[in-house]
Amino acid sequence: LRHLLTLDGLPRAIITQILDTAESFMDVGEREVKKVPLLRGKSIFNLFFEPSTRTRTTFEIAAKRLSADVVNLNIATSSQTKGEAILDTVDNLAAMHADMFVVRHSQSGAAHFIARHVAPHISVVNAGDGRHAHPTQGLLDMFTIRRYKGAFHNLTVAIVGDVLHSRVARSQIHALTTLGVPEVRVIGPKTLLPTGVEQMGVKVFHDMEAGLAGCDVVIMLRLQNERMRGALLPSAQEYFKFFGLTLEKLALAKPDAIVMHPGPMNRGVEIASEVADGPQSVILPQVTYGIAVRMAVMAMLAGGTA
Ligand code: CP
Repeated sequence: LRHLLTLDGLPRAIITQILDTAESFMDVGEREVKKVPLLRGKSIFNLFFEPSTRTRTTFEIAAKRLSADVVNLNIATSSQTKGEAILDTVDNLAAMHADMFVVRHSQSGAAHFIARHVAPHISVVNAGDGRHAHPTQGLLDMFTIRRYKGAFHNLTVAIVGDVLHSRVARSQIHALTTLGVPEVRVIGPKTLLPTGVEQMGVKVFHDMEAGLAGCDVVIMLRLQNERMRGALLPSAQEYFKFFGLTLEKLALAKPDAIVMHPGPMNRGVEIASEVADGPQSVILPQVTYGIAVRMAVMAMLAGGTA
């Protein structure tokens, strides 16, 4: 594997190898290992053209745990503001001996665009492009599910909310179906589900109560208001009434169901605080596992392992 741009078409064996490698980076105390020398001497550049808290930070921690040198380009104070073309920025960073670019951009396809351009020794990781893909989020979500549920072959997983604008949902659906989850459900209003989403191998529900019944895993999504240009936005109260996850609605899932959310959360819009902070929530462990999973991805791409 040279780049990680999408989970669409990524073989089950590779996904499993990434999850197993991430597991090997987990220490007994549920922390990832402190430091390994796998990427010593490598330079990793974080290029985040769109805001991020979890992804950018965990990529930085992961790179440091692999002993790489990591540079976070501050786009707002970079020469991008003077009109420099994105590929010129990339070429100049490559001239500083970059080995890997971690790219987030609001335009779908941006990471692919950079991956097609860079020299053969440079890897590109897609850290989220428009509404297209967020592969490392999808992988850390699979890691979380495997840790809490043990296996994928007997699960019912529901993804709830704004699937239409969600790169996370697309990556999750590709990973869940590739790993053999027998029932993946998407739940949301017609206006927030992509046309033809059934062709991705999912069952569609517009009624949240029906969609949650008997689920093992409930994944909540944020309303991606920043991607809804010109669309009629539902009010927060109205949305919460029909598609917000409350304790009452969660009780329809299996008693040991876990609740996930990629973040950032909007409390009182797609999820009640009692659920987000409750005993079934694994939202913060997801963030923690993102470090080990991103370590595994970078180690694999940069040739440190596998
Ligand atoms: N899940 C996720 O991508 O969060 P950030 O936008 O904070 O990176």
